[in-house]
Amino acid sequence: MTPACALRRVFVLAALVATSNAAAGDVSFQNDVLPVLTTRCVMCHMEGADQGHLSLYPEAWSQLVGVASTESPLKRVEAGVPDKSYLYRKLMGTHLDAGGSGVRMPFQLDALAVEELALIRTWIEQGAPQN
Ligand code: HEC
Repeated sequence: MTPACALRRVFVLAALVATSNAAAGDVSFQNDVLPVLTTRCVMCHMEGADQGHLSLYPEAWSQLVGVASTESPLKRVEAGVPDKSYLYRKLMGTHLDAGGSGVRMPFQLDALAVEELALIRTWIEQGAPQN
């Protein structure tokens, strides 16, 4: 095998591994979702300084999944249904149409990246597990 050929093999293998991970596609709350909340949200949403009456630190999952929103008729996260999840709607800026109030999150900061929004949407679609 020539070096170029060997190198090509490595690329093909790497591509295959990448695709199979994407296909499996299980989003992890601990490894994927929580880091976003911790870097973009916790500074305003923590115990003792819970703006909007939402604390995401030291505990986030139990404050979100199945818990009633304080500013809309929705749950913060309705497992399986992103569009009925107030948290997701607050991040998309579609919260007012869902009977909510206030502004898009994160408050007065840049919206989350498209990939981060997709990640949170997929996590909710997958049943919002505490994985
Ligand atoms: C700079 C401060 C700040 C940051 C950062 C911030 N928030 Fe908020 N958040 C607020 C304030 C203030 C409110 C209440 C007023 C409003 O809704 O506009 C609120 C309200 C909320 C609510 C409504 C709570 C409920 O029970 O209805 C949700 C959900 C929310 N934020 C999620 C987030 C998420 C997720 C992030 C990170 C991506 C985030 N926030 C980042 C300040 C912040």
